[in-house]
Order: sequence, then C-alpha cells, then structure tokens
Amino acid sequence: MAATTLSNIGLAGLAVMGQNLALNIAEKGFPISVYNRTTSKVDETLDRAHNEGHLPLTGHYTPRDFVLSIQKPRSVIILVKAGAPVDQTIAALSAHMEPGDTIIDGGNEWYENTERRIVEAESKGLLYLGMGVSGGEEGARNGPSLMPGGSFEAYNNIKNIVEKVAAQVEDGPCVTYIGEGGSGNFVKMVHNGIEYGDMQLISEAYDVLKNVGGLSNAELADIFDEWNRGELESFLIEITADIFKVKDEHGDGELVDKILDKTGMKGTGKWTVQQAAELSVAAPTIAASLDCRYLSGLKNERVAAAEVLAGAGLKEEVGSVRSGIDKKRLIDDVRQALYASKICSYAQGMNLLRAKSLEKNWNLNFGELARIWKGGCIIRAVFLDRIKKAYQRNPNLASLVVDPDFAKEMVQRQAAWRRVVGLAISAGISTPGMCASLSYFDTYRRARLPANLVQAQRDLFGAHTYERVDRPGAFHTEWTKLARKNV
Ligand SMILES: *[C@@H]1O[C@H](CO)[C@@H](O)[C@H](O)[C@H]1NC(C)=O
Repeated sequence: MAATTLSNIGLAGLAVMGQNLALNIAEKGFPISVYNRTTSKVDETLDRAHNEGHLPLTGHYTPRDFVLSIQKPRSVIILVKAGAPVDQTIAALSAHMEPGDTIIDGGNEWYENTERRIVEAESKGLLYLGMGVSGGEEGARNGPSLMPGGSFEAYNNIKNIVEKVAAQVEDGPCVTYIGEGGSGNFVKMVHNGIEYGDMQLISEAYDVLKNVGGLSNAELADIFDEWNRGELESFLIEITADIFKVKDEHGDGELVDKILDKTGMKGTGKWTVQQAAELSVAAPTIAASLDCRYLSGLKNERVAAAEVLAGAGLKEEVGSVRSGIDKKRLIDDVRQALYASKICSYAQGMNLLRAKSLEKNWNLNFGELARIWKGGCIIRAVFLDRIKKAYQRNPNLASLVVDPDFAKEMVQRQAAWRRVVGLAISAGISTPGMCASLSYFDTYRRARLPANLVQAQRDLFGAHTYERVDRPGAFHTEWTKLARKNV
C-alpha cells in the first residue's frame, strides 16, 4: 500500500457518537479509517461521509485491514460501550498494532479500568489514553469538549487533530492534556456529576416558578431566554427555554407537561458521589441531584404516598403561598438563587477533583479544566470563564466561594437565595439542590459549628477524645460520672 493512501487516524465503534466524531475529524482535513464489526455500520458511515461533503474517510471490514490502513505511529480511537466491549475491541485491534501505536478510549469509562488498560498496553509497547468526550451526538459532530488523560507522548501524537476537532472558544480549543493515568475519565465523570447538579437546580427553579409563581410555559420560555442573555448564559438554560416552546403533537398544550416525571441515568453521577464519599469531600448538591433521580423513579410509590398523606390531612400549601406573590421579584430571586446554588455545586466538583489530584499526583490544572468546559460540553456556560480566572488568580484556592469575586456575588445573592428556599419550604415544594447548596454555604462559612457537641457525644459513649479550643492536646472526660455526681 502506498504511504500516501494511509489515514492519519482510525476510529472503531460506529454508533452515532462514533460516526459523528469520525466525520468531524475527516471534515477538519484529517483522513480517517473507520471500523465496526457490524459491516452495515461501516457502510452507513461511508454514506454519510459522502453525503456530508465527500469527506476523506475510508471504511474497513476487518480489524487487520483497519489497523494497517493507518499511518505509523498509529492512533486509534475506540467508542464502544464502557466495560467488557472496550476490552474486546482492544484485544481485536491490538493484535495488529505495533509498539509505539496508541489506543484512545473515548467512552465514559470508570477511571480504574483505564489505569488497568494502560498497564496492559504498556506490556505490549502500546500507548494509551482515556479521553472524556462531552457534548453528546451534536458535540461529537461539530466540536466536543475533550478530556484526554494517560500517555503524554500519545497526546502529543494526536494534539494537532484534537485541537482542530474540539469546540473552539475565544481562548482556544476545548481540549488539554489532563494528566496521567485515568485522570481524563475521572474529570469527565466529575463533569457529569456537575451536570446532574445543574439540571437538578434548573428543574427546581422551574418548579418554584411554575407552582409558586404560577408561570405558564410561554412565560417560562421567555424567562429562560432572558436568563440566557445574562450571568446564567449556558447551554442548559438555552435548551430549557426551547423545551418550553414545543407543542404537544398529540394533544393540547406543550409537550413538557406530558412527559413522565421519572429521570433516567447511566452511572457517572453515582460514581461521582461514591468518589466524594471515598475521598471525604462534601458534595451535597451533586448527591441531592442523584437522590432526586432515585426518588423520581418511585413514581407509583409517590402517587400512592400523595394519596395516603392527603387522606391523613396533609394540605397543599402552594395556594396560600402563591396569593400575594410578587411575580417579578420571585423571578429575579429565583435567578439569583440558581446562580448562587450553581457556584456551590461547582465548588464541590472542583474540590473533589483537587482531592483526587492530590491522592493520585495528577497535578490537575483547575483553570484549564474550567476553560475546556467553556465550549462543546453539556455544562458549557459563560460563568466558567470566571471560574477559570478564579483559579488563575489562585491555583490553590480553598473553595470557589472564597474567591474574592465569587464571595462578593454570594453575599449579594444570599438574601434572594434564602427567600426562594424559604418560600419553597413553606409551599411544600422540595428544592433539595438549592437547599443542599445553601446549607453547604452556611456550613462552610461559619467559623464555629455545633460539631463540639458531636465530639462530646463521641467522647462520652466511645472515649474517642476531643480537642479544646483553648489548649493543645487530646482530652477525655468521664461525662456521665461528672454530670450525675451532684444529682
Ligand atoms: C459495532 O456496532 C455494533 C452495533 O451498533 C456495536 O454493538 C459494536 O460495539 C460496534 N463496535 C465494534 C468495534 O465492532
């Protein structure tokens, strides 16, 4: 085969994400080889490459033909279901690869699987990257946010390609070398955890505006459009405005009201919360969003519970709260509550990343992470630029909420935030994300907590000892004896 016919890179796994990423790479001028065991997937991709502008893409029907069609050192992206399918694909392809070649897993993989595969690849002289890809099908086609971690040498081999393929923002392409080992997957996992939090907070804002404020879908569409022109400007706010505008083709009103209130999930949010617990990092907003998905799944139980509790005399308080509501002010308060809650959620995600980075020596650059999330990905938002700047000002920032700029914003918004949460509580509308964020803020900002009492209890029943505020050392007290001595 003449060298000129070889592709720059290969991609195996041609579900829609894989097809779209391959077409994106080809469109940026990098000839690409594609492969899938199911041959119809290869043909489908070839058709699309032809129809979407005669893109430089070649289809291959065996792992061997596929691998040999790529120029050395070869880089092969695999986009298959996480877990066993990744191992199977690696086995099929690596049989034909040579030392110096690279495998790049673009799936939502558990980071420890990537770390195992890095070691396995090394034993064959292969390089390995675990690359988080965010942006869904649309992002894969037109510019995703990419989070590659693993071999730095492998990253340098594909740097020119991924920098063109990634979403572009004013301060560069939305890709950077994340760090060693499974850091790329881990960062993508936390990105998804933050995404859970954002979506939960937005749904709570919707709930309060709809049920306390009495806003119609048309009004909600306008409000979210307006918010998308201010500090909340982001992909999720933008698509939420669109959702409220879609009519139900099967009946009256808007489609959003006909959707069953049961949220699906694929696992990265759960991993994020598990990791937060493992690392002793508080992530209550992200945990609340996960819990809410679990509770949403209990649709039948919730319907039954509503009936039982109504029968037991529980009254809907929404109506009484709603009368006398200043709609304009409520809308403005909810906007501020949403923003402040988001900052707390991002602070939790960033601090989880920092804890893992310290444990694994990944040396994560938080400013860079915020920067590559500014475009392409689901949590892309204007305010990520401010997060980037906060970490540039101080790479060792203890928490986003104590960055001088964010601290000022939190203080400015806290009255509105408390009003919204208070109103929701009075109305009996659960806002677990906003409440978790507010409690996180109120706990973190207080110099003195009631943890002294918990320490006393632990010392009383378990002799766990305590420290004092006024002298060094560990102390134990015979609490019960002393308390009852004089009785
Ligand atoms: C090929 O396509 C099938 C069906 O879409 C998929 O299950 C499989 O994982 C794909 N990948 C590879 C590498 O064959």
